[in-house]
Amino acid sequence: MNVKKLEQLYEGKAKKVFATDNPEYYIVDYKDDATAFNGLKKGTITGKGVINNKMSNIMFALLEKHGVKTHFVEQLSDRETLVKAVKIVPLEIIVRNVAAGSFSKRYGVEEGRELKNPTLEFSLKNDELNDPLINDYHILALGIVNEKELAEIKTLAFKVNDVMREFFAGLGVKLIDFKIEAGKLPDGTIVLADEISPDTCRFWDAKTNEKLDKDRFRRDLGGVEEAYQEIFSRINAK
Ligand code: TMP
Repeated sequence: MNVKKLEQLYEGKAKKVFATDNPEYYIVDYKDDATAFNGLKKGTITGKGVINNKMSNIMFALLEKHGVKTHFVEQLSDRETLVKAVKIVPLEIIVRNVAAGSFSKRYGVEEGRELKNPTLEFSLKNDELNDPLINDYHILALGIVNEKELAEIKTLAFKVNDVMREFFAGLGVKLIDFKIEAGKLPDGTIVLADEISPDTCRFWDAKTNEKLDKDRFRRDLGGVEEAYQEIFSRINAK
């Protein structure tokens, strides 16, 4: 599609969003910047923007094939993608298959314990408040989405989990947990938005449990770029 990149609308920690000459579309531009702990830790992961852009698009295309509606339209360059203009629902939608990260800390459960069933939690997307956990009643009380939309978001989240879990199992990778975001099209349709990448998922090698995601950066484990490369090359080898 032929669209012109216009002014920057927004700059996040890992991406910039630009307007285009068509109000129905935005262009996202992925950066190599990496942050953790709500921006307290800052760094660069060389080549991350390219990998996260391409990987997200592969994941969105796969999910579309399985009937999940996404904002993805077309990759424009190594770092840029054309997406449908959506209003982001200010929730971090987190699905977990295995205990790790904040879940392990909060509930005193060792990392790596398989959960009896995939589970879902929401955080309010608000950096000033440090993205606090939020429950269904709070979401409805604040009018963030209505009951029907909340049900749609939950169905979407578990569907994404089913498709991704199977896909990564085929690559010898365990999908531990992930965060997604939903957006609303002008007609009110809820679609999957943002990105799906080693920034937003935990991936462990199925045999060795080696971490192949941003936890290597968050926890100073070294081999950060290599982990992103490893996940991306497994996806491409498929
Ligand atoms: P958590 O265990 O730290 O809550 O993280 C759960 C998942 O969400 C994990 O796959 C990493 C991802 N995540 C983000 O994408 N952005 C964030 O700001 C945080 C804290 C986690």
